[in-house]
Amino acid sequence: MSHAEDQSGTRRDFLYYATAGAGAVATGAAVWPLVNQMNPSADVQAMSSIFVDISEVEVGTQLTIKFLGKPVFIRRRSESDLESARATDLSELPDKLSQNPNKPGTDASDENRAMDEAGEWLVMIGVCTHLGCVPIGDGSGDFNGWFCPCHGSHYDAAGRIRKGPAPRNLDIPVASFVDDVTIKLG
Ligand code: FES
Repeated sequence: MSHAEDQSGTRRDFLYYATAGAGAVATGAAVWPLVNQMNPSADVQAMSSIFVDISEVEVGTQLTIKFLGKPVFIRRRSESDLESARATDLSELPDKLSQNPNKPGTDASDENRAMDEAGEWLVMIGVCTHLGCVPIGDGSGDFNGWFCPCHGSHYDAAGRIRKGPAPRNLDIPVASFVDDVTIKLG
């Protein structure tokens, strides 16, 4: 998709904020920065936003990209991922907040952490909320999600802390769908 198409209003109407600095490293999908030298506001966006092509991410796998100096996990969840995430009662969660700036102030139910209504896509900053290690994914740990080997934090299939020293659910970046196969970060 071209920048011109993006500007023509094909992107969905989600709330997002500009933040400073951007970098991108692709693994298995194209990532490209938004660049428009003619428009000052677009210059600012070029520093703060990237577009991620998710068309090649298979069900049950995770794409990891680098954004603003941190890994971002983009996981396409399987039915079993989704079932285990949605079957969890809020009372079982140490951190009951969604930690999702796209849905500020909401609780940590799976619906408030997923990108889409069906819950297939989960986008999170891949940094353990304890002391900053990168958790291992692919259904790792005791809760079918991510496991941080540094001090043993277990996150579930929605990236919510379930066991171990981490104080918070994995943070979610500002993100939105541009179209069915493109996610904008930032
Ligand atoms: S940094 Fe992850 S458990 Fe300590």
